[in-house]
Amino acid sequence: MQEEQDVELEARLEDRERFEPPESFVEQANVSDESIYEAFDEEWPECWEQAADLLDWDEEYETVLDDSNPPFYEWFTGGELNASANCLDRHLEDRGDEAAIEWVGEPTDEENRTYTYEQLHREVNEFAAALRDMGVGEDDVVTMYMPMVPELPIAMLACARIGAPHSVVFAGFSADALATRMNAADSEYLVTCDGYYRRGDPLEHKAKADEGLEGVEHEVSDVVVVDRLGDTYDHPMAETHHDYGDLVADHEGAEVEPVARDAEDMLFLMYTSGTTGQPKGVKHTTGGYLAWTAWTSQAVLDIKPEDTYFCSADIGWITGHSYIVYGPLALGTTTMMYEGTPDHPERDRLWEIIEEYEATQLYTAPTAIRAFMKWGTEFPDKHDLSSLRLLGTVGEPINPRAWKWYYKHIGDESCPIIDTWWQTETGGMMVTTLPGVKDMKPGSAGPPLPGLDVQVINPSGEEVEAGQAGHLTVQKPWPGMLRTLYNNDERYIEEYWAEYSDTDSDDPEDWVYFPEDGAKIDEDGYITVLGRVDDVLNVSGHRLGTMEIESAIVGVEGVAEAAVVGGNHEVKGEAVYTYVITEDGYEGDDEMRDRIVEGVEDAIGPIARPEAVVFTPELPKTRSGKIMRRLLEDIANGDELGNTSTLRNPDIVSEIEAKVSDD
Ligand code: WT7
Repeated sequence: MQEEQDVELEARLEDRERFEPPESFVEQANVSDESIYEAFDEEWPECWEQAADLLDWDEEYETVLDDSNPPFYEWFTGGELNASANCLDRHLEDRGDEAAIEWVGEPTDEENRTYTYEQLHREVNEFAAALRDMGVGEDDVVTMYMPMVPELPIAMLACARIGAPHSVVFAGFSADALATRMNAADSEYLVTCDGYYRRGDPLEHKAKADEGLEGVEHEVSDVVVVDRLGDTYDHPMAETHHDYGDLVADHEGAEVEPVARDAEDMLFLMYTSGTTGQPKGVKHTTGGYLAWTAWTSQAVLDIKPEDTYFCSADIGWITGHSYIVYGPLALGTTTMMYEGTPDHPERDRLWEIIEEYEATQLYTAPTAIRAFMKWGTEFPDKHDLSSLRLLGTVGEPINPRAWKWYYKHIGDESCPIIDTWWQTETGGMMVTTLPGVKDMKPGSAGPPLPGLDVQVINPSGEEVEAGQAGHLTVQKPWPGMLRTLYNNDERYIEEYWAEYSDTDSDDPEDWVYFPEDGAKIDEDGYITVLGRVDDVLNVSGHRLGTMEIESAIVGVEGVAEAAVVGGNHEVKGEAVYTYVITEDGYEGDDEMRDRIVEGVEDAIGPIARPEAVVFTPELPKTRSGKIMRRLLEDIANGDELGNTSTLRNPDIVSEIEAKVSDD
């Protein structure tokens, strides 16, 4: 039955490679005039005043862009503002009683929570006062290691209020990963949580946080613990550990004047994976980042104050920072937060939430859409999803089949889909259609947003012809861009600019940002992102460095060498494939396999869990000793093997291949 429906859908939508924006959407869209592209080109960089104008400034900026010292660009210089005031205070008069956050917990027998702008403002003030009393000063980095509880955005906004940058560590990351990030940021404060609910069960979190704290090399002054689980489990509280609820109660009614921050002052740090084992601390600033997330939320997500906007990402990743917290709240809308997974208690949980809250937008990841597709249409079909006006995806390429399924079964063929390409580093969306202006092409993210100069180039830096593949590059700066890697300007240049820039030049024309993605472009200027060209995997839309995983594996007793590659996965997009050489005297058996999986989970977290561990006496290497990852990828994907003639040990490849097909 399901299959029949799919076949029918395929047949009808298959040949369609272009979809016009639905008329009903265009009529009400925030942006519906194509002339914006030309206008922004002509007015660049002043066009970005339009983004800055969405914010309230304490001090007007003097210059839109200071590009005198590339690639250390500065935006809206001389301006001063506060992100928490922009997300809260200025909405109080008109929207004080309206919901700012609608929070849905995972257990269905528990009350959900609504925070009006008034209530959110109050609690942010109280917690900001508590942080200040604790000694948190301007520019002190506060780490948050929290799941999807309302206290996470509250803590972020409280930090923003007092000018303390936050560094949020995804709650699914391991204790080690927390320690690495606190050490790198020299962060002396942690806000965490006793636990949360996952697929019906309470999950301890504080013990993991405590374990992480043991790995912090400097003194941690204070730890704040949010009580999510009540008395479900006892966790010891050291003298420097404070209960969040007590702190807020002790500061009841406190008011904290928002600190006027320079536009270029750091708003937050976010650690992300790169080619080396050491995560990169991406630095975002107050003015440019907030303007970027507000503008893209308005132009692309089409957010209006009266909307109930739902992004199903986790705030522990950049998507949640930009498009659950900062962008939507800057626009004064209602943003939703869901604590749990989409399949609990049933596979219709998201659709149930959308129906109940009459959500107007859904922004999710292709991996989720592929899972929904697998589960079948009976789950969305049970619910009235007609409140939805726009659908979005982010994090990885979406295959046309999943795109069409989303379009038909969730959007009822009446919602535009935005396929948004961007990165932690870009702060917000970069390549996507403006939903009220441009036709959609399934599988292709679309043209660059107005005011952006994105090009697909070949190794000599020239633009490729339509249909050809090359490297995605951004040729001009934009307000939401990262400013540097925390305490590491050199690595910032190395990682993002060196490849295509003349690094000795101080002419901005000579500087090109390279995001490490491959892409192709068509005759209409639509960009199809092909995936990372560095050693970074994209597992369920999460970025993982192969080096990080490899160093976790070689840390396991009995492992001599390891190579990690990505293999195609029906739902996750990519999955972690590991090839391991054991030390003499160790057996590549189940016990060893378990220890390797555990080692990876301990070092990074369950998201990096290997799909397959293949033991091998050797790895395929070139004569110069480089591991030929491409061949290992071919094996993982069951693909025809690439050229092995440059190997010094060509026989090993078929040996490994035979092993994998045996398993
Ligand atoms: C990498 C960035 C952007 C927030 C979530 C991930 C891939 C992202 C798309 C898309 C194809 C995409 C890229 C990019 N990516 N969006 N729409 N189509 N690929 O943020 O962890 O910084 O990862 O995700 O490879 O470089 P991130």
